[in-house]
Amino acid sequence: MSKRARESRQLTTKPLSSQGWELTAAAAGTMGGPAPAVAAPDATCTLLPLTSFPKNKIKVLLLENISHTAIEMFESERFQIETAPGALTEEELTEKLRDVHVLGIRSKMHVSDGALKAARRLLAIGCFCIGTNQVDLEAANRRGVPVFNAPFSNTRSVAELVIGEVIALARQLGDRSSELHRGTWKKVAKGCYEIRGKTLGIVGYGHIGSQVGVLAEMLGMHVKFFDIATKMPMGNNTAVATLDELLQASEFVTLHVPLSETTTNMISAPQLKQMKQGSYLINASRGSVVDLAALAEALREGHVAGAAVDVYPAEPEKNSDGFTTELQGLPNVILTPHIGGSTEEAQAAIGREVATSLIKYVNRGTTAGAVNFPELDFPQDCKSHRILNVHQNVPGVLRNVNSIISDLDVNIKAQMNMTDSNIGYLVMDLDKAVSHEVEAALRELPTSIKTRILY
Ligand SMILES: NC(=O)c1ccc[n+]([C@@H]2O[C@H](COP(=O)([O-])OP(=O)(O)OC[C@H]3O[C@@H](n4cnc5c(N)ncnc54)[C@H](O)[C@@H]3O)[C@@H](O)[C@H]2O)c1
Repeated sequence: MSKRARESRQLTTKPLSSQGWELTAAAAGTMGGPAPAVAAPDATCTLLPLTSFPKNKIKVLLLENISHTAIEMFESERFQIETAPGALTEEELTEKLRDVHVLGIRSKMHVSDGALKAARRLLAIGCFCIGTNQVDLEAANRRGVPVFNAPFSNTRSVAELVIGEVIALARQLGDRSSELHRGTWKKVAKGCYEIRGKTLGIVGYGHIGSQVGVLAEMLGMHVKFFDIATKMPMGNNTAVATLDELLQASEFVTLHVPLSETTTNMISAPQLKQMKQGSYLINASRGSVVDLAALAEALREGHVAGAAVDVYPAEPEKNSDGFTTELQGLPNVILTPHIGGSTEEAQAAIGREVATSLIKYVNRGTTAGAVNFPELDFPQDCKSHRILNVHQNVPGVLRNVNSIISDLDVNIKAQMNMTDSNIGYLVMDLDKAVSHEVEAALRELPTSIKTRILY
């Protein structure tokens, strides 16, 4: 046996906490319980008699009223679950995280580097929302903790709201409804239209924009879109080459772009002038994409016949805060408080999407969809053991890893390494007979941040 192999054998007897990561996770379904809802690596793997770490010792802390769909999925994995309705203070979180393996939060819980430093067993964080700014992503990355979110679970909810608003603007529904609430009966047809045969111009043909295009076409609209990336048109939707071309051709314009340097104020006075006389604007993307003062002016002049706005450059933190915008009081303007994605279905879908990512990471080491981590996802050969190693991205790591492997004469079945500017993430499937020795030796490398084994 080589010198390194002998050293490695001795290392396995040491407490596994030497690198700050004691946990190794079970392969899905190995506890003899009900089949997991997601992430079973392979049906045959469920027959393996052993688990690398008992699933019922994996502690999941879920804060801020996370959807019951997520809780059910963690329960079916037999993880221990603790929930709390609100966010914690930093001190409370730091204390709680000492023995937590998986943390689930929504938008209010801030996760600082200080809290992460104390979280020696933390495997992953799930943000059960779209944004991830509330987590110190760089610190999590350097500490080997992937962060997952649910960017697309509310796509359909936003698309449906936009379609509803197209009809509501064309029929001036918001104004008729408020008039009648005030006791004014105003039955008019002038300036009210069907949407059939009209052109909808979509700016940003990504997840939401393309869904809007499909739904609009089903209602008899012509759909054109402008996107900086080449996109495959759905149905009879057609791409146009420039934003101006889209604005000049459309009765309705709807915005579905991210906020970036190129999209900040992308609809300002010059673009509003390009829009057809009497056309409508919908913004359910990001508030700063539209210059609201310019839109208010175009509405007052009657050049734009109506607008539906769901997002604003500055939005209140909580429901009890007041809110003002230059669009208040203007005719045929529908104002909604950023509710595009706020449906029961979207909340449930967010729960499923993030819980699926977390369970896949615990069970298989899959990081696909992580916002701060190299993304790796490949099927596990259940005849082998899987080793996961997060390491500093410095020259020579793979040389050291491969020297361990060659010293032990290990037969590697699959090996994949991916890096970002700080860290590397190595996933290796290898012979069961030597897997623990390899794991222990990898754990001892000075460049290793976290190492675990799955079977
Ligand atoms: N109102 C809500 O509650 C709500 C909910 C979810 C998402 N959103 C917002 O909706 C927007 C779209 O979300 P998505 O999931 O469809 O995003 P996505 O990333 O799937 O699509 C965005 C599209 O915009 C395109 N794009 C980027 N810059 C552009 C530019 N300068 N000109 C033209 N096209 C450009 C991209 O190529 C991409 O195709 C985002 O801003 C998101 O924050 C709002």
